[in-house]
Amino acid sequence: MKTTELRQPLLSDHGDMRPVAADASAPADRNSIVQLSPDHPGFRDAEYRARRNRIARLALEYRAGETVPDAPYTEEEHGVWRAIWRALEPAHERHACAEYLECVRRLELPRERIPQMRQVSAGVEACSGFRLEPVAGLVEPRVFLESLARGVFLSTQYIRHHSSPLYTPEPDVAHEVVGHAVTLASEPLAELNRIFGEAVRRTRTAEALERLSRVYWFTVEFGVLREGGEVKAYGAGLLSSAGELEAMRHAELRPFDLEAASRTDYDPTDFQPVLFCADSFESMYRAIHEFLLRIP
Ligand SMILES: [Fe+2]
Repeated sequence: MKTTELRQPLLSDHGDMRPVAADASAPADRNSIVQLSPDHPGFRDAEYRARRNRIARLALEYRAGETVPDAPYTEEEHGVWRAIWRALEPAHERHACAEYLECVRRLELPRERIPQMRQVSAGVEACSGFRLEPVAGLVEPRVFLESLARGVFLSTQYIRHHSSPLYTPEPDVAHEVVGHAVTLASEPLAELNRIFGEAVRRTRTAEALERLSRVYWFTVEFGVLREGGEVKAYGAGLLSSAGELEAMRHAELRPFDLEAASRTDYDPTDFQPVLFCADSFESMYRAIHEFLLRIP
């Protein structure tokens, strides 16, 4: 596919909006979710909305620790999954860090059909002990981040609307699996997610939660590092979007200062113009580890 054909949908590709829904005063409930807005690509598709509701019900009725029920995907939706991989595989070869590429091989994700969450979760658990559990949509940041401390990644199960295979305004199964599940198959990255959750559990104020959400955003979601003289991605928001990976090459790279990252605002609705770049995978791991353990 030519770049020009891709330009429009890729330019509107998403970042993960989960941490920005931050509202520390909201009740901590994994079942309170954000509704589809009228400008959502699937808003006028009654059949899509009915399927989204069925999938949401699976999550609402789910109890922690049970086997995750299978989602009813259509052939059209499996086609969306194929289109996403077609755009992503060459982008991964160029821009993904070595640890990510190794984890993709380790998980052996199907490229032709959307894998069911119970299968992906079993694969991740065998690698790092992390599990995926379903949620119906965006959940409050504290609920989402604190579950990481238990080795549980709360994950949406629906897929974006077929009218825009390379764009979604919210996290969907492609972002969760290709971005997060793959990185959680890495022991060091799974460990960082876990200590993020523990650090969030220790916070008592909205401000402290917001600062950690920003560090999560600039590392787990949009982290980059140097490898073999090139800038490579280890963040799930970058690795699940061909558009973000392309835009990453034009971002302003700042030194890997997590104190600064915790005070830097971001716009989740556009490509990220500012990224914090570590000197290597090892130095990224050490810096995040030390930063999180210092959180009182
Ligand atoms: Fe995400």
